[in-house]
Amino acid sequence: MKNPQLQNILNQSFPISSKSINMRLVQVSDASFILELRSNVNKNKFLSPTTQTLKAQEEWIYTYKQREKENKEFYFVIESKSGEKLGVVRTYDFRDNSFCWGSWIIKDEAPADTAIQSVLQIYIFAFEILGFEQSHFDVRKQNSKVIAFHKRFGAKIIREDEDNFYFIFLKKDFEITKTKYKKYLTPTDMGGGYARYISNQYLLLLKHTFIVKIDPNLSHYTLQKAS
Ligand SMILES: CC(C)(COP(=O)(O)OP(=O)(O)OC[C@H]1O[C@@H](n2cnc3c(N)ncnc32)[C@H](O)[C@@H]1OP(=O)(O)O)[C@@H](O)C(=O)NCCC(=O)NCCS
Repeated sequence: MKNPQLQNILNQSFPISSKSINMRLVQVSDASFILELRSNVNKNKFLSPTTQTLKAQEEWIYTYKQREKENKEFYFVIESKSGEKLGVVRTYDFRDNSFCWGSWIIKDEAPADTAIQSVLQIYIFAFEILGFEQSHFDVRKQNSKVIAFHKRFGAKIIREDEDNFYFIFLKKDFEITKTKYKKYLTPTDMGGGYARYISNQYLLLLKHTFIVKIDPNLSHYTLQKAS
């Protein structure tokens, strides 16, 4: 874990808050939602097969929660601001400077910008909060819509085999993508990881009745116990 205080942020129910979605860590109680998404024949064509019973799905999440505690993996439910579940997305396979993401599913009824918003937030989370320099992921060759999506975002295919294209996406290229998609982002998102980190930390600390004094240029902050 590159950011030692990250656990504090992740312990909050909504670690990520974007323009029109929230992303919170998956709970065992989300098993039926995930099972429904992953059992949808229109959605699961290009995904690994899923455990077919609710109990097995709950057990899968239970085991995942252990990996989450060890900061090896973060699995998010994407929700509307009013709390409607819209989809899921997961970061995993953390290597030295690169992370993988996938298990990305969004239900058909979700607003059209949910896909873009969720991906922007995944990259902000992994590049700017976790501190990775690169993302790696693979997409089935027949999943042409998703391949086009990643190419538009700036990801590059570095190799292929019979079934998959293997992509990488660099943090420095994400900086360019962020500008291109700024209408989907808030000023905090545009301010970089430090600003987001501070704002998350600020909310967290407020709960614990600390007063946070933030340097106007966001270069440092100090804490003071509230009397
Ligand atoms: C992958 C998945 C989450 C993507 O979500 P999606 O809503 O289908 O994403 P889309 O590519 O249709 O993008 C949504 C909208 O944003 C638009 N859009 C996407 N990227 C865009 C971009 N870079 N710039 C502008 N508009 C963009 C799309 O055109 C679309 O708008 P439209 O509905 O008016 O055509 C979804 O298709 C899904 O759940 N698929 C099944 C599971 C799966 O295959 N997962 C990926 C495994 S690698």
